[in-house]
Amino acid sequence: MVKICCIGAGYVGGPTMAVIALKCPSIEVAVVDISQPRISAWNSDHLPIYEPGLDDVVKQCRGKNLFFSNDVEKHVAEADIVFVSVNTPTKSQGLGAGKAADLTYWESAARMIADVSKSAKIVVEKSTVPVKTAEAIEKILTHNSKGINFQILSNPEFLAEGTAIQDLFNPDRVLIGGRETPEGLKAVQTLKEVYAHWVPEERIICSNLWSAELSKLAANAFLAQRISSVNAMSALCEATGADVSQVSHAVGKDTRIGPKFLNASVGFGGSCFQKDILNLVYICECNGLPEVANYWKHVIKINDYQKARFVNRIVSSMFNTVSGKKIGILGFAFKKDTGDTRETPAIDVCRGLLVDKAQLSIYDPQVSQDQIQKDLTMVKFDWEHPVLLKPASPTALKQVSFAWDAYEASKDAHGICFLTEWDEFKTLDFQKIYDNMQKPAFVFDGRNVVNPDKLRQIGFIVYSIGKPLDQWLKDMPAVL
Ligand code: NAI
Repeated sequence: MVKICCIGAGYVGGPTMAVIALKCPSIEVAVVDISQPRISAWNSDHLPIYEPGLDDVVKQCRGKNLFFSNDVEKHVAEADIVFVSVNTPTKSQGLGAGKAADLTYWESAARMIADVSKSAKIVVEKSTVPVKTAEAIEKILTHNSKGINFQILSNPEFLAEGTAIQDLFNPDRVLIGGRETPEGLKAVQTLKEVYAHWVPEERIICSNLWSAELSKLAANAFLAQRISSVNAMSALCEATGADVSQVSHAVGKDTRIGPKFLNASVGFGGSCFQKDILNLVYICECNGLPEVANYWKHVIKINDYQKARFVNRIVSSMFNTVSGKKIGILGFAFKKDTGDTRETPAIDVCRGLLVDKAQLSIYDPQVSQDQIQKDLTMVKFDWEHPVLLKPASPTALKQVSFAWDAYEASKDAHGICFLTEWDEFKTLDFQKIYDNMQKPAFVFDGRNVVNPDKLRQIGFIVYSIGKPLDQWLKDMPAVL
């Protein structure tokens, strides 16, 4: 039986390994992590992450050929293939602070693999890493390994949170990069055979190591760039009376462009897009390519602009002050069908409103009160000027309350903001919400989940990103 061990039981390691275990009954898969609470949760009925379909996959394999454990060294020592899926955040201090990837977790995992290994292993980079990381990892492994043979492969993960299981069952492609030596090619073949249990052969792409590493950064940069492009257009739509949904529909019909990822919103979030683009920017700068670095930097600048613009719209349309006014925040996760709040635009929007002294009532179906409090008070890093941004103060936190549902969050509110596109928001009883709100009642739709015309008929003043403005908003000059 082939044994696989995955270091890092997070959003990537957990679902990816669960699907490998389900599709390959002949392979034993151990997912290991230094975090005890995370492993206990994987072994319980309340998995540490919310992902549609994940519970079912885990239930089918856990205890048979899928195991979650804190005994990292034992499982690494026994494995033939070791995936490394640890976090690779942006460095917050020292050389490259604010841009470069922090490979501390990766390096410590690599040193541990070298330490405990007694037999040859294939080590797979699953985390998103800077191009050329495999070279550094190879050095760590070979200089510490007592002559054991390691083959390094790059197998970046392309799943999207919220649709992880679907993406893993039916990936657009699986990418495997390896050394172009006989041993390297053999290792690529071994990993290919794992995926071939369920992925059609033509969707398994093999490349050299550096192409595989760079392709992941490039894919995320291209995806984020599409969002920033349509968001930039949304500002122009508001200024001209064009409707961004109609523009993206027309643009996306061009088969060279395609319809996906063209929805305007309050901005992209998630743990990957910003950090991976910053990482790309840093690599470009280190390679003497400042123009290329600047090009990609602007994708993040537009994202920051979009969040700031949203807050400014809210404040300016409510007579230039939200002080003491209750605002219902509907949705906090960075997208629907996940409880993940890393880099969610909701953090910046809420902080912006708190600075203006709003009273926030927050509701999200999957995000806990604890998590939201942590996010609002967390010290954030200003990527452009490597300084720490002030968190919301303990006093500001007194302006925040938490609601059980959208109706409670909007009761007696002056305005409500949609910050995540949860399906349940599409079927709310807006007449009931309107009746229970202060007047004029405002809706600020950061995800284009509501039908503005229907809400206007009820009596709401509606701001939807990139859509023609109400006369009210036209009359209230906003600094955008
Ligand atoms: P995560 O933070 O959810 O999980 C990482 C896990 O690694 C944590 O549970 C941590 O305790 C563990 N860990 C760190 N150092 C360790 C060590 N030395 N030994 C054992 N465990 C250790 O991170 P996530 O979201 O799963 O991301 C992992 C990597 O995958 C990152 O490089 C990310 O960029 C990449 N990625 C993430 C995607 C996503 O949607 N979240 C999608 C594709 C790639």
